[in-house]
Amino acid sequence: MEKAKISINAENVISCIDKRLYGSFIEHLGRAVYEGIYQPGNPNSDEDGFRKDVIELVKKLNVPIVRYPGGNFVSGYNWEDGVGPKEKRPVKLDLAWFTTETNEFGMQEFQKWLDKVGSELMMAVNLGTRGPDEARNLLEYANHKEGTYWSDLRISHGRKEPYGVHTWCLGNEMDGPWQMGGKTPEEYGRVAAETAKLMKWTDPSVELVACGSSNSNMPTFGKWELTVLDKAYDYIDYVSLHEYYANYADDPESFLAENIGMDRFIKAVIAFCDAIKAIKHSDKTINLSFDEWNVWYHTKESDKKIEHWIKAPHRLEDVYNFEDALVVGGLLITLIKNSDRVRMACLAQLVNVIAPIMTNDEKAWAQTIYYPYYHASNYGRGKAVRVDISCGTYDSAKYKNVPYLDSVGVLNEEKREFTVFVLNRNLKDDITADIRFENLELKAEAEHIVMAGFGLKDANTAEHPDTVVPASKKVSGTSFTFPKASWNVLRFTY
Ligand code: AHR
Repeated sequence: MEKAKISINAENVISCIDKRLYGSFIEHLGRAVYEGIYQPGNPNSDEDGFRKDVIELVKKLNVPIVRYPGGNFVSGYNWEDGVGPKEKRPVKLDLAWFTTETNEFGMQEFQKWLDKVGSELMMAVNLGTRGPDEARNLLEYANHKEGTYWSDLRISHGRKEPYGVHTWCLGNEMDGPWQMGGKTPEEYGRVAAETAKLMKWTDPSVELVACGSSNSNMPTFGKWELTVLDKAYDYIDYVSLHEYYANYADDPESFLAENIGMDRFIKAVIAFCDAIKAIKHSDKTINLSFDEWNVWYHTKESDKKIEHWIKAPHRLEDVYNFEDALVVGGLLITLIKNSDRVRMACLAQLVNVIAPIMTNDEKAWAQTIYYPYYHASNYGRGKAVRVDISCGTYDSAKYKNVPYLDSVGVLNEEKREFTVFVLNRNLKDDITADIRFENLELKAEAEHIVMAGFGLKDANTAEHPDTVVPASKKVSGTSFTFPKASWNVLRFTY
């Protein structure tokens, strides 16, 4: 048994966490919308065609904000196609995913669904095949009260009150050659600035996210951020980060340390933002929106065989295993640790497409990654608090000197709770840690939620949806055991 020491001073506050850190994402892609959240005629669906079993699972996750409608999809999307009477909506080809889009589901339906799950909309505008004009029209449709062409059109579509969408993404992954209307950093910086300008003139209360690099390995990483920030700094509020993690080499030691890579990526983008701030002598700080993150690799090869132009194909339907859940737990710890600058993040995605929730025609179930996301979203609200750890380390092929334990705390003053999230990356040994708290008088008894004891490749499926689920026990004292390869949530009250 390995030993460790943990010390937590409740006054070592990193940030007041923005609840949007626990956001997610629904794109018109595969079966995320159709057969995922929306399936009229299915016995599990309500009067609006929304899957009730999915709504229940989403509500439990307490998802604060959902990015929509893409993703790559948004770069060829005409938002007008998805509003108004359904019988008039055009059927079109979607060149992002080579499917046929019926448009029977659009912004109106999505907002209605969001109201049912108690979540907020993060809307993306098309800066691929379109530009500032369509973006400001959409904003006028969504947020202007009445008395103009676009706001009155919304009212004629049955929505009297403005949607009041606060958070907007200025396009998606515009540096990617796979993107419809992909751009150079100079081109995108200009169009992002001009779009942002028009959007803020239309509604000064909105917050705008400019596209950063599609991932940290893009050839223009760094140059992209510096150029875009240089051109759009005064008009935008956030820059986006996207990254997906994989275990192609079947190397769990490296895979479980991927949140170290995420941390480096975040620190690099903060440096780019602050470099431009310094050059511009600006008072304004640009924060980060990590609005696509997850594990994604299980279906990358098999998806290449999907036939073109079919509706709602089974695409990106990764079946997540236990090690994926541990990695997602680690990534959540890193997001919370950086929550002073990463104010928003979206687990990509929410249903069926690289998702914590899966459906078939009979039921919906939770994948392994559902659980760490559930824990962070429900117990990770409040103030992020630094956790100091002294423990053993290991070298993996990709990352050196990796601490076996990773952890962060969250103080919820409203509920008088203190939660400690702990990942044990040690695949062979349990670790017992003494935890010393300062500046917080905790009650003796706590809850220890743990995901451990599974095979790394164990997964939840339609037939066996409860193979990998967390367990909970009451604990007391100052010494806690984190089993080998485990995700832990210690819930104290005070
Ligand atoms: O989330 C799946 C896809 O990944 C998104 O459409 C795109 O933005 C990213 O490359």
